[in-house]
Amino acid sequence: MLNIVVCVSGGGTNLQAIMDAVSNGQITNTKIAGVISNNPGAFALERAQKAGIPSFCISPKSYESREDFNEAFLAKMDELNPDLIVLAGFLVVIPEKMIQKFKNRIINIHPSLIPSFCGTGYYGLKVHEAALDRGVKVVGATVHFVDEGTDTGPIIYQKPVMVEEGDTPEVLQRRVMEQAEWIILPKAIDAIANGKIKVKDGKVVQA
Ligand code: GAR
Repeated sequence: MLNIVVCVSGGGTNLQAIMDAVSNGQITNTKIAGVISNNPGAFALERAQKAGIPSFCISPKSYESREDFNEAFLAKMDELNPDLIVLAGFLVVIPEKMIQKFKNRIINIHPSLIPSFCGTGYYGLKVHEAALDRGVKVVGATVHFVDEGTDTGPIIYQKPVMVEEGDTPEVLQRRVMEQAEWIILPKAIDAIANGKIKVKDGKVVQA
């Protein structure tokens, strides 16, 4: 059984997709051990509570320094002892110590086709604003392992989504979630839980 901890900052629609996929059997062999948010107001926390999943808020604002926050975040993670950490709209830089400790055991969903529209400053709605500004016709989402860089780790799955005439960032964001994120994130968790993929020479291959 793969124990996962899901980290969230906002609405938690990706968390909801994971919880639904665990309930309906699209994700097998997996237990959600806990949900951690940096944001006390995150609706994602309510979703977790409603589903009876232990949830915790660890906010940088409650600590004197970033180091203190990182220590508390790591301590909670150690306590929950996950096999896999899932970043589902988590807008906090992961401490390097955590990345090293959980090498190839942290995954992230990003709302673009990496390497487009990714890296520092590209998160949430900003990604979709940038895509529309550039006038690209195809966007999408990527689920990848987390390494020391920003959005640079081995890519697990990607799924393209078409831009449509008249799209606003909000409309495009929703379509990318519906047609890509909510599909490939659960699929990646199931693949990891069932030993279907592995990292070889910095790339994801079938196990
Ligand atoms: C999602 O679109 C996710 O891909 C994005 O934040 C949103 C969270 O929505 N993540 C990033 O931009 C990470 N760089 P949600 O809280 O409804 O799942």
